[in-house]
Amino acid sequence: MDKVRLGIIGVGGMGSGHARQILDGKVPRMELVAVCDVDPSKFKQFEQYPKIKKYTKSEELIRSGKVDAVLIATPHYFHTTIGIDALSNNIHTLVEKPISVTKADALKLIAAYNKAKKKNPDLKFSAMFNQRTDPYYIKMHDLIQKGELGTIRRSNWIITNWFRTEAYYRSGGWRATWAGEGGGVLVNQCPHNIDLYQWLCGVPCAVTAIGGLGKYHDIEVEDECCALFEYENGATGAFITTTGEAPGTNRLEICGDMGKLVLDIGVNGRKLEFIRNEVNAQDFIKKNDSRFGAPQTWTVTFPSVQGNGEQHIGIKKNFTNAILDGVELIAPAEEGIKAVEMANAMQYSLMTHQRVELPMDPKVFANYLKKLIANSKFVKKTDKNASDDLNGSFNNK
Ligand SMILES: NC(=O)c1ccc[n+]([C@@H]2O[C@H](COP(=O)([O-])OP(=O)(O)OC[C@H]3O[C@@H](n4cnc5c(N)ncnc54)[C@H](O)[C@@H]3O)[C@@H](O)[C@H]2O)c1
Repeated sequence: MDKVRLGIIGVGGMGSGHARQILDGKVPRMELVAVCDVDPSKFKQFEQYPKIKKYTKSEELIRSGKVDAVLIATPHYFHTTIGIDALSNNIHTLVEKPISVTKADALKLIAAYNKAKKKNPDLKFSAMFNQRTDPYYIKMHDLIQKGELGTIRRSNWIITNWFRTEAYYRSGGWRATWAGEGGGVLVNQCPHNIDLYQWLCGVPCAVTAIGGLGKYHDIEVEDECCALFEYENGATGAFITTTGEAPGTNRLEICGDMGKLVLDIGVNGRKLEFIRNEVNAQDFIKKNDSRFGAPQTWTVTFPSVQGNGEQHIGIKKNFTNAILDGVELIAPAEEGIKAVEMANAMQYSLMTHQRVELPMDPKVFANYLKKLIANSKFVKKTDKNASDDLNGSFNNK
């Protein structure tokens, strides 16, 4: 095989973007041979490509014999069901974020992959965590992995530049509903940031969150979250997000004994600084005898770190290279369960006002979400031309 024959399942906003990049030759060894959408009006954009097969049922695309791989870009609940179907049929799978809505679903999806991999050890399963290709996060990851920061003591990410209007929420029946997507800002906008948080700083052992459901928008799910993280070694973290603040902030700080990494992404561009301590801060606390002394510092900048990387194209290329050449995946989908669990813990904590310990019992949030769906009286407003694919998205599991 010298090209991966891909089928995209769900060709709405994101799926169309993926299709366009492949059709424009941005992923040279990937060929778009099939698309699937429950809404056939989405096929109009492929009219000039008669060779691309169109399906309204993902089962048919998966079993068509035409594809080596699928990219699942449907509303989130289907990532689990369609992902299980694809992997069980020995189809390489690239799943959009979040890999699933609940930890319970993520476990089922990963179990299907592990089962399929026993028959085909070369089967690839990747997640669309495109921000892992961003050179700024890669630099931070490298520095932390090399021990340049020493032990991490505190991290915090203010990521409030996910501003969204009512028009956005009205643009899809599934959006911002418990039944359609199982959450709000933590499930839709933040999976990237939560994945990066755990990639850089690890998974906390406890989460305490406050926030709001429909605080800024006419929606039933969370549009604000302010969470505190506790780590096994005593380190602390804070994760603050909303879709209701303008202008928003995107500032990530990670502080270790040997210094502090600060990434600021704003209207004036991006800035990454490493403020290094000359000596280990913990040693200094113990050994220095001046009352108000502090370690000397020097500030390192990274002029060669530029741009935001290959993003979605980069993940699709990497997935292709993993299938064709066996290269390592940038974002193995099994790792996606960490971001799912952290999101579930934040949602559960902010709604129940409890401190949540991780690992979480997967049933706890899954059952809670089922009750939210069953008790929901929320009437979703959608725009006339908005896709309404809510029908059965949760029950279809
Ligand atoms: N990686 C990123 O940067 C990024 C950005 C945006 C969206 N996403 C993810 O992509 C997914 C889709 O988001 P979107 O904004 O494109 O939504 P969308 O509503 O624009 O598109 C979803 C499409 O899936 C179709 N669909 C629904 N159920 C289906 C099913 N069972 N089988 C086949 N098709 C089905 C819908 O008809 C629609 O065309 C979400 O999970 C979202 O989190 C990722």
